[in-house]
Amino acid sequence: MARAAVILAAGQGTRMKSAKPKVMHAIAGLPILGHVMAAARGAGAERIVVVIAPGAVDVEAFALRQGAETVVQDKQLGTGHAAACAATALKNFVGTLVVTYGDHPLFTSATFEASFAAQEKSGMAIVAFHSRSTAYGRVITKPDGLLDRIVEYRDANAAERKVDLCNAGIMAANAKSFFRWAGELKNHNVQKEYYLTDIPTIAKADGVGCAVVTIEEAETMGVNSRAELAIAESAMQQRLRARALEAGVGMTAPETVFLSHDTVLEADVQVGPHVVFGPGVTVRSGAEIKAFSHLEGATVASGALVGPYARLRPGADIGEDAHIGNFVEVKNARIEKGAKANHLAYIGDARVGEGANIGAGTITCNFDGFDKHHTDIGAGAFIGSNSALVAPVKIADGVFVGAGSVITKEMSKDSLAVTRAEQTEIPGWAEKFRQRKRAEKAARKK
Ligand code: UD1
Ligand code: MG
Repeated sequence: MARAAVILAAGQGTRMKSAKPKVMHAIAGLPILGHVMAAARGAGAERIVVVIAPGAVDVEAFALRQGAETVVQDKQLGTGHAAACAATALKNFVGTLVVTYGDHPLFTSATFEASFAAQEKSGMAIVAFHSRSTAYGRVITKPDGLLDRIVEYRDANAAERKVDLCNAGIMAANAKSFFRWAGELKNHNVQKEYYLTDIPTIAKADGVGCAVVTIEEAETMGVNSRAELAIAESAMQQRLRARALEAGVGMTAPETVFLSHDTVLEADVQVGPHVVFGPGVTVRSGAEIKAFSHLEGATVASGALVGPYARLRPGADIGEDAHIGNFVEVKNARIEKGAKANHLAYIGDARVGEGANIGAGTITCNFDGFDKHHTDIGAGAFIGSNSALVAPVKIADGVFVGAGSVITKEMSKDSLAVTRAEQTEIPGWAEKFRQRKRAEKAARKK
């Protein structure tokens, strides 16, 4: 059966107190909505329809970029009404649908998969968890374990409120049937809303049963405030760390390492304490990232050593066995095999050839206030400490740049360039200077 997902994201999210729509706030470097989409897609949802509020251009652009479709819910008349808004978009879709909420970033692909599987067996499925929180609808089951009904807490009677099985916010059904049932929803409840949660009751009248899939409460968290966003981030970090450890990554203090949703760390990568991985990082097996480093949009090849206190920015491509040491910043630059920049350097818009050595304090001067320019450093070159390489500039293989030089012209293979002023020496000057100063000081004290 073909699979699709409808993700509801038309709510206001006012409690975030943000100009940014709630579902666009990032967790592990990806908007909340992106996590929901990825989980649904991981369970085989080939079409994803995101229900958005009028004028939610950022949400729309993000959803489209991620390969989803969007439909607009003009007025927020409830979750059932929101889901029904996807009917036209999925008019020709034949298969199974999951409907879920765009602000639940911790749902996993496994949970969506279980919902699809339970739907195939029973006709419909919902996902539930155990909680006493008054925020959730109550799941009332029949003696055979199937669902009888879902009652929103506000609409529930005393006995129903005592039930601790709650609605997590995933519903799976046959797409055609679902939209037919959604068309029959009424808003006869405390909130005068069209509730998604009334669909199973309508389905039951149609002779379709509904299975209840149970999951851990930790997965069901919705984000409504900044505080909840921080809690969700922390939960996601724990999940990503556990996954990395499971995959064979060594971490001395995993609780201090921050990962992104897409961080790729191969087995036998070693990560020290307090390392931050922004989006788009890949580290190959056998590389080591030492403490307090910050990486983003970078690739690190096997055997490379990065940090402590290194910063890799987008486009940093660190080759095999290369070393990037403390207070070295690399941006849009390829550091080839075995090259080293061990201390205090900025390497931007550059290539550093195989085995080259970049001395402490070296700067590639890549920006002239208007444009960025490239620096090309050949294999085996030796760039002396505190050199400024003014781009665009080409430094051939085997070149030697004397410390403190400012290089503005192309250098040929195996040449030496020194641009600092020549050293002069005045013998005995220092001792004479000290004697004069001591005498002056003694005269003042008298
Ligand atoms: C909903 C469920 C409740 C469940 C809980 C789990 C209903 C009626 N209730 O309640 O059983 O326990 O989630 O967290 O479904 N939305 C729209 N358009 C609307 C209304 C809502 O797109 O008109 C979206 C919101 O952006 C949000 C989601 O639907 O992402 C859920 O809406 P919300 O108002 O948070 O529902 P709850 O009251 O939490
Ligand atoms: Mg909610």
